[in-house]
Amino acid sequence: MINTRLNEQDPEVFRLVEKETERQNQNAEMIASENFASRAVMEAMGSSLTNKYAEGLPGKRYYGGCKFVDVVEDLARDRAKSLFGAEWVNVQPHSGAQANAAVYLAFMKPGEKLLGFDLSHGGHLTHGSPVNFSGIMHEAHFYGVEKETGRLDMNRIRDKAKQVKPKMISIGASAYTRDFDYEAFRDIADETGAFLWMDMAHTAGLIAARLLNDPIPWAHVITTTTHKTLRGPRGGMILVGRDKENTLGVVAPKSGRVKNWSEVLDSAVFPGTQGGPLMHVIAAKAVAFGEALQPDFKTYQKQVIRNAKAMGAAFVEMGYNLVSGGTDNHLLLIDLRNKNLTGKTAEQILGRAEITVNKNMVPFDTESPFVTSGIRLGTPALTTRGMKEPEFEYLAKLINKVLSAPEDDTIHLGVAQEVKELCERFPLYDAAVV
Ligand SMILES: Cc1ncc(COP(=O)(O)O)c(C=O)c1O
Repeated sequence: MINTRLNEQDPEVFRLVEKETERQNQNAEMIASENFASRAVMEAMGSSLTNKYAEGLPGKRYYGGCKFVDVVEDLARDRAKSLFGAEWVNVQPHSGAQANAAVYLAFMKPGEKLLGFDLSHGGHLTHGSPVNFSGIMHEAHFYGVEKETGRLDMNRIRDKAKQVKPKMISIGASAYTRDFDYEAFRDIADETGAFLWMDMAHTAGLIAARLLNDPIPWAHVITTTTHKTLRGPRGGMILVGRDKENTLGVVAPKSGRVKNWSEVLDSAVFPGTQGGPLMHVIAAKAVAFGEALQPDFKTYQKQVIRNAKAMGAAFVEMGYNLVSGGTDNHLLLIDLRNKNLTGKTAEQILGRAEITVNKNMVPFDTESPFVTSGIRLGTPALTTRGMKEPEFEYLAKLINKVLSAPEDDTIHLGVAQEVKELCERFPLYDAAVV
């Protein structure tokens, strides 16, 4: 055990941090929305910047003493802009859901219509779900994937948009394994007079590495998390790609002045939906964007996709049904109905075997969201540890071993040992991360 201030002062919390680090070290982490941030990112998050109030923006704060955090926030903004080729960013949203809340506040009035990607087909809660503010405050309509292909059909989405006439169309997903046709979405948005919003929370790292289609030139506004494929601290961000014709101009109610997106979005973050920004997290975002600008980030992201494709092919060979038949990105969605298993059971027994996945609805699911018919697997975290195609193919076999013997605890515990040995070959953190 290492000696730290935390250990000396509060051994109870320290031991829990230590246990969690041990769990992350010894476990095959396959939750698609998780990743392992670098030590440098975590050090910035654990820094003195947590003490600083800095409401406002660099150079325009409501508090004194901001001369250093101003530079930090400018660094984060400049790095994010060059990483994504964006004209404008706001790095203050505390999370992905907060970034999305600011987009709604900026562009939608209560009761106006949204056309979003159906949650049960891969979308996200904040895209109009009736249990989320987005669906409670607005009239949400949905598009989904086709039953036969598991993919979006742009003609069907166009028809739906013409019928609904939404104020805003959202793109982006938590469990969609294929890429989006942003140009076609923009065409539909222009034809129907809607704003186009892309939530790239899951795929931001792959987009930054230019391995997937780029939404920046097409969507009016883009939101993301910074902690999934982007591998930064837990947080959110809003970007605007282009506003050349000021088609995005919004008229200020009192003065009648045409405001641009940046003004509207900045004030939707603060004071609209948040108070003081988390400057320690913004520093960690700057560090993560700096990492993502290095050439080896692209190598990492390429491997993330290669690993997902290799694992997908291994599952198909073993008779598993992948929604859409495979993947273009970092995740796989397995429909377990032909294996007579629910997502809930699969998540539980894989957990016994030290493989962490999450149960997930599949399109046209017949089970409830608490049970589900599928599991979602992601490759970003284990790829960060250095695992490549052979390890992911081996893990697919281990998963199959567990799922083929749902009642056999001896097999589950045997697999847990194999997972532990695999993880030991790809060390993560050498001590409790504090
Ligand atoms: C597409 C999408 N948007 C938004 C979010 C919300 O992000 P956060 O958990 O940081 O609020 C998620 C999280 O999984 C997501 O997948």
